[in-house]
Amino acid sequence: MSDTESHVGLHETAEAPMRTAVILPWHEDGQSRDAAARLAEAVELSRSIGLDVVHRVTLPLRAVQPATLLGSGQAASLGEAIAVQRIGLAMVDAALSPVQQRNLERIWGCKVIDRTGLILDIFGERARTREGALQVELAHLQYQRSRLVRSWTHLGRQRGGFGFLGGPGETQIEADRRLIGERIARLRQEIEEVRRTRGLHREARRRVPFPVIALVGYTNAGKSTLFNALTGAAVVAEDQLFATLDPTLRGIALPSGRRAILSDTVGFISALPTELVAAFRATLEEVAEADIILHVRDAAHPDSQAQRADVVAVLDGMAEDGMLGADWSRHTIEVLNKADLLGGVAQVAARPGEAAVSALTGEGLPALLATIDTRLSEGLVTVGYDISTSDGAQLAWLYGHGEVVGRQDGDEAIHVTVRLAPEDRARFERQRNAAPGR
Ligand code: GTP
Repeated sequence: MSDTESHVGLHETAEAPMRTAVILPWHEDGQSRDAAARLAEAVELSRSIGLDVVHRVTLPLRAVQPATLLGSGQAASLGEAIAVQRIGLAMVDAALSPVQQRNLERIWGCKVIDRTGLILDIFGERARTREGALQVELAHLQYQRSRLVRSWTHLGRQRGGFGFLGGPGETQIEADRRLIGERIARLRQEIEEVRRTRGLHREARRRVPFPVIALVGYTNAGKSTLFNALTGAAVVAEDQLFATLDPTLRGIALPSGRRAILSDTVGFISALPTELVAAFRATLEEVAEADIILHVRDAAHPDSQAQRADVVAVLDGMAEDGMLGADWSRHTIEVLNKADLLGGVAQVAARPGEAAVSALTGEGLPALLATIDTRLSEGLVTVGYDISTSDGAQLAWLYGHGEVVGRQDGDEAIHVTVRLAPEDRARFERQRNAAPGR
């Protein structure tokens, strides 16, 4: 066991799932969240990277002990449980100083990680874009550098990785620091490079000319369930364009016939340590590009409001950074999910801009699709075209990109009245004028 917080370590190298204890140190006063809900979330996060949680406990914190955070009695009795249950990893849901972490590892004889270590591990798994992966690695190295302290020798070598826990003594630590420093400098350069080319990727995306709907929401709000339910409820548009999309993107047809791309997104996590915010935002690029944001909420959760505030704060932060427009909330629909747990959609008081659904039972989904449709058609223009009856492709394009509100079939031409986004109108007319024989 080592006392590094390597995100290459926790799940991939373990032959069997790591037997894990989740420990929540808890101050009674002034916290908006319920301890039981926070503990359940920590267990859920640990499981999401394949840890086998065999022990969980909330420990009231009276006075913080600088050496161990926990009281000595608490630490000792946990040590017994850890030994009896052959636990290999203790996840302490708090911010531990390097010294506290080291002392706890010594007392318990097992690897200890804190909340930042766990979240870095999760981000490492979730980062999908190159920038996201680089940002996570950078945050991780900075975190490790801040924890290089003396006396590692009571524990063994790190498995793989950079091997910076190799030898004892100051010299080795200095060498490790230098190596990490160099790696950090290289990563920063790479991130700059990726940023410069980011515009090009956007361009490539734009060639898929459909509006993008991104799902965001707090961990466990039901994003994946809703993603699957929506692609099940809507007719999935089979199309060559869609066939080439990333597996986390799915094409759907809305009630009006207009098509859109649904994009699944990573969860949000409460009390995100500040040094991780940049890494986290970089995993949210799809949100930055979305035409509509579906903010999925667990309406039945006791901390529903606090969870909402966390998500809104992250989106506001993205707007401050220029990743999102300042008016992002105008493009957002709050989806009050898990209505079945509250007695059904009719029992949930949804305000304008909100939609109550149950992703599980499917109740409310047709109305949500209709709301999305309406939002997308705001700002559309209504235009009429005479399309030659022999020109099936043009007709299909109009049905796919716009909302056909009128149609008269003649012998040689079909007159179509259609509502289109201004850019789609321009695109259509450009193609039409460029078409041969016109
Ligand atoms: P993360 O990946 O952790 O961010 O979670 P998520 O937001 O993708 O949530 P997910 O879809 O995995 O759902 C979390 C849990 O909530 C699962 O156990 C779902 O079965 C449950 N769930 C999702 N939607 C509903 C719903 O409408 N009603 C009920 N009762 N449970 C739901």
